[in-house]
Amino acid sequence: MLIKHRNPSAPLPSEITPKSVYLDRRSFLRTAAVAGAGVALGSLPKASWGTVAPDGKFDNLTESRFNTDEQQTPWETITTYNNFYEFGFGKEDPGLYARSLKTRPWSVEVGGLVAKPATFGIEDILKTFPQEERIYRLRCVEAWSMVIPWVGFPLADLLNRVEPTGAAKYVAFQTLYDPEQMPGQKTDALDWPYVEGLRLDEAMHPLTILGVGLYGELMPNQNGAPIRLVVPWKYGFKSIKSIVRITLTDAMPPTTWNDYIPREYGFYANVNPDVDHPRWSQSRERRIGEFLKRDTLPFNGYAEEVAGLYTGMDLKKWF
Ligand code: MTE
Repeated sequence: MLIKHRNPSAPLPSEITPKSVYLDRRSFLRTAAVAGAGVALGSLPKASWGTVAPDGKFDNLTESRFNTDEQQTPWETITTYNNFYEFGFGKEDPGLYARSLKTRPWSVEVGGLVAKPATFGIEDILKTFPQEERIYRLRCVEAWSMVIPWVGFPLADLLNRVEPTGAAKYVAFQTLYDPEQMPGQKTDALDWPYVEGLRLDEAMHPLTILGVGLYGELMPNQNGAPIRLVVPWKYGFKSIKSIVRITLTDAMPPTTWNDYIPREYGFYANVNPDVDHPRWSQSRERRIGEFLKRDTLPFNGYAEEVAGLYTGMDLKKWF
């Protein structure tokens, strides 16, 4: 029988920022933003960038216009109910076992159809890209959802640094492959490493971020430390965790779930209440922590921002 131990890498309840303090910080950010509105943009100090302190807490996070003000899913839930098959298939497994993942040193190699291929160390990523708070809905293909206050920065910021060439049409992502650290990779449940992909315009969309934290703290291992993708209008499986490689390509890259069962998981995976999964409906979802189900919104509620990316496409065919 599986004996459950508390995950030692998870913060103690006493270490979790109390919601009241957290909300206070947010209202401070809002006031600061209003106060700063009169200041010429050029004179804003660099300190207005989100930076991470040695204790793993981010400071000065910028708020985003994309943030939802819906009730946020508690830290405890976001970090104990996960999908991260490299650490097991149960929702509690990643929270229990992902501490075996070593996230330092860590680097992300970015190459392919780019003018300036580069390898970014995680410390440089944390230091040089302005970090924002992005409070997004996450809708899993399994018909549950959460509201998650990520810390991250637009993927476009990183891609622009390497200068995609005119031939680049897609972006491929790859998770670390190391079965010693990720015991799930010793099984043949999936074809490892986990891989994902986006069309270049999806990758460059301002909603698409690389996430490096959660609730103002560094990303917990079970949520994809030290750096993961977050694409809020797509089913959660597109948001690949613990990324080590990003490659610009001219052909649609293979993706783990589409390779595994193409009939059930498409490349696009846009949240769509009108296209059911072959084995269950996608029209409603359970927000974790709530009793009643709610309607699923097209593009997970981000239609105004992203529907234009798919003009003229039959989204039943390109699911
Ligand atoms: N990335 C990797 N490398 N391995 C995975 O198993 N699961 C995906 C996605 N990214 C997964 C992954 C799925 S199915 C979902 S719903 C989200 O991560 C879950 O993210 P969360 O655990 O932070 O909520």
